Amino acid sequence: MLNLVYPFVGMTFRIFNCWTILLTMFVILMLLIINKNPKKTVGAPPGPKGYPVLGVLPYLMKFPERKMAEWSSQHGSIIMVKIGLTDVVVLGSSSAAHAAFVKNTHLSDRPQDGLEIFAGGKGLLFINASDFHTEQRRFCLSALREFGMGKKTLEPKILDCAAMLCDHIISVCGNYDSTGPIQIEELVYITMSSVISHLVFGHDTLQENDDLRRLLLRTVEPNKFNALAGVLMFIPSLKNIPPFSITTSRAVQFREGLHHHIRIEIDRHRASRDPNQPRDLIDNVITFLCSKSRRKNVGSFTEEQLVPLVRDLFMAGTDTSSTTITWAILFLASFPDVQGRIHEEIDTIIEYNQRPSISFEDKMPYVRAVLQETFRLRPPLPLSVPHVAHCNTSLMGYRIPKGAIILTNTWGIQNNPKLWPEPEKFKPERHIDEFGKFIKSPDVIPFNIGTRHCLGQQLAKMELFITLTSLCQRFRFTLPLGETPDLTGESTFILRPFPFHVIATKRH
Ligand code: HEM
Ligand SMILES: *[C@@H]1O[C@H](CO)[C@@H](O)[C@H](O)[C@H]1NC(C)=O
Ligand SMILES: *[C@@H]1O[C@H](CO)[C@@H](O)[C@H](O)[C@H]1NC(C)=O
Repeated sequence: MLNLVYPFVGMTFRIFNCWTILLTMFVILMLLIINKNPKKTVGAPPGPKGYPVLGVLPYLMKFPERKMAEWSSQHGSIIMVKIGLTDVVVLGSSSAAHAAFVKNTHLSDRPQDGLEIFAGGKGLLFINASDFHTEQRRFCLSALREFGMGKKTLEPKILDCAAMLCDHIISVCGNYDSTGPIQIEELVYITMSSVISHLVFGHDTLQENDDLRRLLLRTVEPNKFNALAGVLMFIPSLKNIPPFSITTSRAVQFREGLHHHIRIEIDRHRASRDPNQPRDLIDNVITFLCSKSRRKNVGSFTEEQLVPLVRDLFMAGTDTSSTTITWAILFLASFPDVQGRIHEEIDTIIEYNQRPSISFEDKMPYVRAVLQETFRLRPPLPLSVPHVAHCNTSLMGYRIPKGAIILTNTWGIQNNPKLWPEPEKFKPERHIDEFGKFIKSPDVIPFNIGTRHCLGQQLAKMELFITLTSLCQRFRFTLPLGETPDLTGESTFILRPFPFHVIATKRH
């Protein structure tokens, strides 16, 4: 779903050439109207010069993260480029990310303009850093802990969701031992969304609500208007001019549709809740609101905040995890020896009729290595989520101007040949030491680091471990004879595989 946010310009250029021409014309036109001469900040990080007006936009047609990694290897781990009129800083090492997001506290705002889905300054994912953000984040974390992360309560739910996915695959098998070629992404997506659904709604909304499912699944498909949203992030002044106005109105439509469904859920919760026994995050917030309003101090939590908050948890938590599992399945099917080792480890640690558990994690270094290698090679958010500089500030000796967009080049860091020999190879063994122990790498940062790092990291890791283990315990994945799927994928905002077929065969 994050696809709607700023799928990078690439797709637009590749698929819709006429849009390219239109786009260029509009950008030039707008710039003539605005007639601002972009000034170069003295002492700013180095970087390649782009074209006048467009900056480096034309170089970012396909896999912007790869192009940016190339620039980082030439100019250093902090570079700055212009995309349209916007200064964009790209962080090319984990120490640069550390300097920016742990040591410096001024680089944690978010872009506000041009992201219609997140408009209104509410929610969590796309609000500026502030006391409001800190309070919301803290609240969500404690709610997540209460209903899942850290504690054991969510594990059975995740196991149920994983079992549901396995049962579904078995039902596809029918009377046979294997499924035949199937596309598995949508099944995985629904499973992953169902975990978050339980957490916030207390039940599986997507399974039960056809309208909502259709609304959400529609956004997973690439779409030319969504792709144009990428440009809007850097040049927001175009948002009311065709064809960008179409993107804007579609985003508004999507947001309103989603908000509508969430409001219905909230009303149902109000009617059926027991103040002493909150069932999920929504109950928790309502209880909190009621107790606060009695004290005439509502704090940062209001009804208008609850809807976008739920929206953001949902949007941030579903696509990322489901894309990761989809990549893992594709890699396992493509590399049978890796899959053999994962089966061996699972069969050694877990009885065939026993359910997996996160408590087995320490005994299963190979599963963890496969997940870390999947994250390394194909991070779901190759350029993380953009940050914005709150004020003029300095970073590792360079000046960063107020308003600059800061991107962590997660893919670039994780595929840097200086850190990773043969970075393009899928080799889980690189994450296992000589004693057979898993090595947690500080240079694999799919969740980013610092004050705005992924709030759902723990939950996501638990989901991924349990889902992958459950799938591999019960199935062997293979590619249909003669099919060699593309392992590079398509990089929009999310780096996802192109649709592919796998065959799942029962193991027991
Ligand atoms: C494979 C799974 C996931 C990946 C790779 C991932 C990655 C990320 C990244 C890169 C960010 C931006 C960090 C930054 O700006 O510095 C982020 C933010 C966030 N993620 Fe995740 N995420 C995943 C799963 C989840 C899940 C399951 C949830 C649900 C609870 C979640 C909730 C959030 C939220 C709320 C934010 C915004 C935090 C903020 O702006 O303060 N994510 N995630
Ligand atoms: C930020 O720095 C620029 C020069 O790089 C200067 O023109 C501007 O006034 C500064 N802004 C603030 C708010 O200090
Ligand atoms: C967020 O911060 C930026 C500066 O970093 C500012 O320009 C913008 O107006 C702020 N947005 C909101 C909604 O506070």
